[in-house]
Amino acid sequence: MSRLATTLCGVSLRNPLIAAAGTAGYGPEIVEVIPASRFGAITTKSITPESRAGNAPWRVTDLPGGMLNAIGLANLGLERFLAEALPELEAIDSVMIGSIAGHSIEDYVEVAGAFGDPTSAVLQLVELNVSCPNTSKGRQFGDDAGLLAEVVSAAKAALGSKPMLVKLSPGSADLPGLAVAAVRAGADGLTVSNTVPAMAIDPETRRSRIGRASGGLSGPAIHPLAVRLLHEVRTRLMEEECLVPLVGLGGVLSWSDAAEFALVGATGVGLGTALFIDPRSPRKIERGLEDWVRRQGAANLQELVGAFEP
Ligand SMILES: Cc1cc2nc3c(=O)[nH]c(=O)nc-3n(C[C@H](O)[C@H](O)[C@H](O)COP(=O)(O)O)c2cc1C
Repeated sequence: MSRLATTLCGVSLRNPLIAAAGTAGYGPEIVEVIPASRFGAITTKSITPESRAGNAPWRVTDLPGGMLNAIGLANLGLERFLAEALPELEAIDSVMIGSIAGHSIEDYVEVAGAFGDPTSAVLQLVELNVSCPNTSKGRQFGDDAGLLAEVVSAAKAALGSKPMLVKLSPGSADLPGLAVAAVRAGADGLTVSNTVPAMAIDPETRRSRIGRASGGLSGPAIHPLAVRLLHEVRTRLMEEECLVPLVGLGGVLSWSDAAEFALVGATGVGLGTALFIDPRSPRKIERGLEDWVRRQGAANLQELVGAFEP
């Protein structure tokens, strides 16, 4: 068995690398470019009950430290996702994670109910996106511990026994506190974290470089922030005796970025912007991690998870 094989909330992954929500299409789009076998898991775009066209262009702009996006949760909507995209996922040789988003508790419950149904068995895990900064109300659940607990427990009840990750927002004031609230409400694992709310302005036009005033920053600029947040979240969960598996996400371009996440306690490592920059990055990161594990004298990556010492 590979030194990188891992388990996320009871689901076996061939390696810790997870294609991040919204950067891999519904799944089939990414595997046209990168073999599914490079990933431990692939996350779908976030699905809402109704189809969404998303925001006006431009939706993405390159910045020196990464990308600013304001996609606005463009997706097929639940009914078409189930009818058109889901059947194609069976052919993908990777664990599939269904991402859920919404504007109300009812929205999350509706999608969670469908993803928990036996007809959606191809989705072995789900991820609750409570942190999208690109919709008028998209962040409300991720910013308030009470609301977050409400949406997590309602979604979990609708989902049933399937494991559920909750994806937190780095823009929230007390992320460790929100993490504890999510776990106490039923999150089986946490993804830390989503894009960072940010702005980029063209001085000549005096207007935003994207179709709305602000968007979400991803890529290398946010990596050190995400590493700190994951470290703080894990520390608090351990203090509160409610540690769950964690996925580190934000700015991973190289094996050493992924290794940092593992050291502060991530069992899964998400890749988003890296997939746009270099389709070979998952393979390079996998090889680099394998060599690092060997150099560290560890039997496998799991031995190094949480091995950070200040
Ligand atoms: C173009 C684009 C679309 C995204 N769409 C979603 C989405 O639908 N749902 C979600 O939870 N996160 C979405 N994200 C956030 C990513 O999943 C990830 O959290 C973020 O990009 C940080 O990781 P990175 O620095 O490796 O890209 C999107 C990011 C980008 C760049």
